Amino acid sequence: MQSPTYILAIESSCDDTSVAVLKNTEVLSNVICTQNVHEEFGGVVPELASREHQKNIVPTVFRALKQANINLEEIAAIGFTRGPGLMGSLLVGVSFVKGLSLALNKPLIEVNHMQAHILAHFAENNKSNNKPKFPFLCLTVSGGHTQIVLVKSVLDFELIGQTKDDAAGEAFDKVAKIMGLPYPGGPVIDKLAKQGNPNRFKFPIASIPDHDFSFSGLKTAILYFLRDSIKEDPDFIENNQTDICASIQYTIVKTLILKLEKASKDLNIKQIAIAGGVSANSELREALTARENSLGWETYIPNFEFCTDNAAMIGISAYFKYLKGDFTDLSVIPEARMKL
Ligand code: KG4
Ligand code: ZN
Repeated sequence: MQSPTYILAIESSCDDTSVAVLKNTEVLSNVICTQNVHEEFGGVVPELASREHQKNIVPTVFRALKQANINLEEIAAIGFTRGPGLMGSLLVGVSFVKGLSLALNKPLIEVNHMQAHILAHFAENNKSNNKPKFPFLCLTVSGGHTQIVLVKSVLDFELIGQTKDDAAGEAFDKVAKIMGLPYPGGPVIDKLAKQGNPNRFKFPIASIPDHDFSFSGLKTAILYFLRDSIKEDPDFIENNQTDICASIQYTIVKTLILKLEKASKDLNIKQIAIAGGVSANSELREALTARENSLGWETYIPNFEFCTDNAAMIGISAYFKYLKGDFTDLSVIPEARMKL
């Protein structure tokens, strides 16, 4: 039997420092060090994020190795996020792995963060262990991106549609901020929406051609709606919090699902996956599963720990590239706007 390949993976694209150790596609450890410093600002402050990464990266590597019970000499390669993401945050990860690669004489493998969100589906640890079959469509929805991707193989991706302005996660976060809810807004709105009436308030769904999205109009519509409602009742938000959240969530999920249905129909593909932070959303997960019966989709939803940013997904991508011998040399620089 072939001996296993151990990959050390580092994710530092935004506000989570994460390190994972993988044995082939099995995740042995996936340590996520969340930066709480941003909470009081209602969003990620890039300069603070890079300083936190600098502080956290070494202890997080040691924790991940310890949990996996693996030492640095056993590692075959080091996977890292090259982009897209915040330049300062990416720089910390990229500089760190270059030093580690030189010191250990181990090869580097650059990973595209958005591809990694999709490839998280191939973690052996996923609950169902049922992997999407190629070609499949993946709706990747995070704080920075909203994309529909045609996945032809583990290394072949085609962008079918994307947001023209705000990402779906950003819409959740910005609306939460307007309502005075904490950051990140997605999980908070998700929780409050469970007790609310999604049909109480009507918000617009942007009509954008093809498979693209737009969420900035929704944010503005909600801002004006709340401003006008508060004029009539200063406690409007407090008194109607759950119904507002349920109605907003309903609108965002409906927007996403409508485009996904269109892409599925146009491309005649019924293998449908979701990925990224917003794929943790309970209504989106339910809406997707419901289409197994109504539309004959086969759906793939990652475990919660592989939805939001994590290094395990970076490790999976790095492992597939390792098998192809696709290594990165030390001249690599981060790419904040790295394309899919
Ligand atoms: O993928 P991710 O962790 O980081 C980026 O690469 O952006 O996604 C973070 C986003 C945030 O906007 C957060 O509000 C959203 O994912 N999110 C959710 C939920 N959990 C996280 N949005 C809706 N419902 C959730 N349960
Ligand atoms: Zn992400």
